[in-house]
Amino acid sequence: MSENDQLLRLWANEEVMKFREMVQQDPYRLHYHLMPPVGLLNDPNGLIQFRGVYHVFYQWNPFETAHGAKFWGHYTSKDLIHWREEPIALAPSEWYDRNGCYSGSAVEWEGKLHLFYTGNVKQPDGTRETYQCLAVSEDGVHFEKIGPILYLPEGYTAHFRDPKVWRQGDGWFMILGAQTLKEQGAAVLFYSKDLYEWEEVGRIAGSGLNGLGDFGYMWECPDLIRLNGKDILLVSPQGLDVAGHEYHNLFQSGYFSGAFDAQKLTFDHGPFTELDRGFDFYAPQTFVDESGRTILFGWMGITDEAEQHHPTISNHWVHALTMPRELRYVNGQIYQSPLQEMKMLRKGKVETRLSIDGAEELYPQIAGKSIELLIELVETRGGVFEINFRNSAKLIYDEARDEVSLIRENVKTGKLETRTSKVSSLSAIHVFLDHSSMEIFLDGGKEVFTARYFPNVEDESIVFAGHAVLDVKKWDLQGFEVKEQEAK
Ligand code: FRU
Repeated sequence: MSENDQLLRLWANEEVMKFREMVQQDPYRLHYHLMPPVGLLNDPNGLIQFRGVYHVFYQWNPFETAHGAKFWGHYTSKDLIHWREEPIALAPSEWYDRNGCYSGSAVEWEGKLHLFYTGNVKQPDGTRETYQCLAVSEDGVHFEKIGPILYLPEGYTAHFRDPKVWRQGDGWFMILGAQTLKEQGAAVLFYSKDLYEWEEVGRIAGSGLNGLGDFGYMWECPDLIRLNGKDILLVSPQGLDVAGHEYHNLFQSGYFSGAFDAQKLTFDHGPFTELDRGFDFYAPQTFVDESGRTILFGWMGITDEAEQHHPTISNHWVHALTMPRELRYVNGQIYQSPLQEMKMLRKGKVETRLSIDGAEELYPQIAGKSIELLIELVETRGGVFEINFRNSAKLIYDEARDEVSLIRENVKTGKLETRTSKVSSLSAIHVFLDHSSMEIFLDGGKEVFTARYFPNVEDESIVFAGHAVLDVKKWDLQGFEVKEQEAK
């Protein structure tokens, strides 16, 4: 490890020691989501189950609650419920990654954990450089940087990053997010026999390709996966215009389903579908665990002007990952559902039938800041009903319009903002509230709304209004157990 690397780690650890206590007493700290110990977290990275242990790395700025030269923070778990904070995996210490060890992925090969990531470099004159880099570990905890293994090919700007690597046949593919010189977003494929030497295959999807019109100026975090016989490209395009209920966030995350031909090296695909209907969801990544499940973590945040107004910033931290979710592909679309493991967090079940008729009603037994609600719609009588969470966000089902909307206060402007999803029917709403987050799964995960919200910390109320008969189950949820790194 270089001297620079050691120094950066030392400083980052000092920062954690200095602010950990302040961070932990923040009432908006989440209880069953992974967060940075201090500072800013963004994308999930390097997701893998390696020798039976789950590894979650994340983009991390330990020094500020703003974006900057990113580190890779690291958590591990045997059951996705009990976590361990591990030493820093990557620090931006070398000439090829000194302005950030940007996003990437992990694979196991010959018993070793291999991390692929983007070395981000900004020259003093403002120009950007990008290097795709490799770091290798024997134990999954300590990494040795090998350095760049892939340089910027012709035809692209330096917005070329986020390698996702997978094994297919007797070789390896890497897919990267890119921007062409004409400023069109693209997903670019490479091939390798040994993980060290990579040859360019070319663009397999992008703005203006495969029958797609203009579709953004940059694509980030591509992830090509197989679900139920379909090849699916998850990607986060930037620069889509609002269209009806679609694309209301500054940046989007979604997927194209189709067929990837590993011989012809083509990807025929259909239209883009957003993965989430809420406000705070970006840069998701998936992995397949040893039981064969495809598990997704997303960043429960987004880089927009509101992020610097999160109240957690005054306590020296910002952002979190989503809960882990299992993906399935059913009837031509992705379903996301909470992992079975989340049931281990349940305690104190309440079960009741509610007949809601008009005015707002409070059911004191259904309240809390860290709860799971499973709501089955028994009767809706063609009307509207709504659930008001802690007087700070509302979910509204309008049966006549076939719409579900989530409304909350914008953290910057204080104005109400809405995200809406069309639903042809609705029979169940599955809600996970943590102290300042909500993840709402409709009909087994056909649509998901993910959002942060910052209610009055004393308020635990859940209020129903409108017309409906609902069967409600409610559990209080315990938190993850996270074992901290010991201060050195
Ligand atoms: C997505 C992203 C990635 C990049 C990383 C930097 O949020 O912009 O494209 O690698 O964040 O932190």
